[in-house]
Amino acid sequence: MQTPAKAGRLTRSLAAPCMPVSGGVFILIAAIVAGAFVSDYWMSASARVASIIPVPAAAMAHNAATSPEPVPSPTRFTALGANRTPSEPAGLAPLPPQQPPAPAPESAEPPTPTTCPVYFRWIHEDLRPWRATGITREALEGARRYGAKFRVTVLSGRLYVARYGRCFQTRDVFTQWGILQLLRRYAGRVPDLDLMFDCQDLPVVNAGDHGSHTPPPPPLFRYCGSEPTLDIAFPDWSFWGWPELNIKPWEALRREIKEANAALDWTRRAPYAYWKGNPAVAAARRELLKCNVSGKRDWNARIYAQDWRTEVRGGFRESDLAKQCTHRYKMYVEGRGWSVSEKYILACDSVALVVRPRFHDFFSRGLVPLQHYWPVRGDRGQCRSIKFAVDWGNSHPHKAREIGENASRFVQEELTMDRVYDYMYHLLSEYARLLRYTPTVPGGAVEVTARSMARGRRGLEREFMVGTAVDAPGSAEPCELPSPFGPEELEALRRRNADAVRRVETWEER
Ligand SMILES: *[C@@H]1O[C@H](CO)[C@@H](O)[C@H](O)[C@H]1NC(C)=O
Ligand SMILES: *[C@@H]1O[C@H](CO)[C@@H](O)[C@H](O)[C@H]1NC(C)=O
Repeated sequence: MQTPAKAGRLTRSLAAPCMPVSGGVFILIAAIVAGAFVSDYWMSASARVASIIPVPAAAMAHNAATSPEPVPSPTRFTALGANRTPSEPAGLAPLPPQQPPAPAPESAEPPTPTTCPVYFRWIHEDLRPWRATGITREALEGARRYGAKFRVTVLSGRLYVARYGRCFQTRDVFTQWGILQLLRRYAGRVPDLDLMFDCQDLPVVNAGDHGSHTPPPPPLFRYCGSEPTLDIAFPDWSFWGWPELNIKPWEALRREIKEANAALDWTRRAPYAYWKGNPAVAAARRELLKCNVSGKRDWNARIYAQDWRTEVRGGFRESDLAKQCTHRYKMYVEGRGWSVSEKYILACDSVALVVRPRFHDFFSRGLVPLQHYWPVRGDRGQCRSIKFAVDWGNSHPHKAREIGENASRFVQEELTMDRVYDYMYHLLSEYARLLRYTPTVPGGAVEVTARSMARGRRGLEREFMVGTAVDAPGSAEPCELPSPFGPEELEALRRRNADAVRRVETWEER
């Protein structure tokens, strides 16, 4: 069992980077044998959201032993992968046998591909720094100096991973698992490629260091990006589940939240702005505490600090993000970076009150202020800003509901796992076109297969892998990638967003 002091240090160091956080909240738990963990907070209120489930001692021992070395040794991998073609069964014992795609009925028309959601256009923007120059092996390898933790190489549909550092919990495992499933889903379509990935939170490739007269920046994939950096945003691990917090894979959770929304109408929800999380990780969150209801003032905010020790003592109940949508307004406040809980908040049918974000994940640039969320100040005007938003919504319930419903529709239609895979597919395909060399298996890389990843995993880790395994290889048709933004379009979009934010500020001041 870790000492409290040690857990505290761990909390601080983990909290540092782009911790997924959010209006809800969010927490990081490093579950170690007796359940010492680290929390960065997380979710919802009464929601007993994320909880750690007790794991049998044997499984913990396994985790403890394997988490620092999630990639098994080369010999084990090559032995396993040697005679396997990408279209063969992935070999997860409990999975149903994976069949080749059923032939389409003779009369069936070829499916007409749909156009991908608008946020896919950011793929072109994220890759723009290499559009003129392409990506050389030297540029790629330069990403190691920026802290890349692993390298992903795809050759003929097989996945090879070279590991350069540690990732927290099973982030890297579920990220690689997601890529493996992509390779199954779009078997034969994902081009050969070679990329660097960093699983830490904060984007680090400073745009200011890479002007038009310097060599192009190293391409570095991570879970979020920001305006002043050039890191490439890629879907985070939580879409395949977050076993340490008992957060289910997104596809299942998305459906559950949808059902729960139908059962608790917006008008029956508490007419306040709700947030629960760990305020210690960011100044914006400490500011938020000042807006809590007190004997003297009511800013319409109901703010709760997550106390993980208490929550753990209260028993490791099932996490139930699907029951977190109890308030008409839910606050989203970044910690050190983007937050995985953003999608759970947006899915609520509640109005998301978004405190000025500094980071984006791959989909959040598709959100429009006042259409999908209500922008809230992050500075000293924050409390008034929250109060104004809630008062406005309560006196314009039809419009407020519509904003909440627009956000739900966005996640329910444009952020399904189909679209997440399509985003990965198009991002990786466009990326691969920029490579100016023929990728080969890099030094230190080993083949990763579903079988090798699942070996020895138990409990939720295994359950989530089984639950997210793609079982019909090659049967899906990706949506059609929309064209890049023109410079005027990009400018108009930035102006539209800034105008919406400014409009709200003007209303607040009246
Ligand atoms: C905010 O106020 C509520 C009601 O008084 C209280 O229960 C809660 O603990 C407060 N939150 C924080 C973070 O102090
Ligand atoms: C909700 O979205 C629709 C289009 O999807 C848009 O026309 C409408 O204005 C949005 N509602 C609000 C309140 O912005």
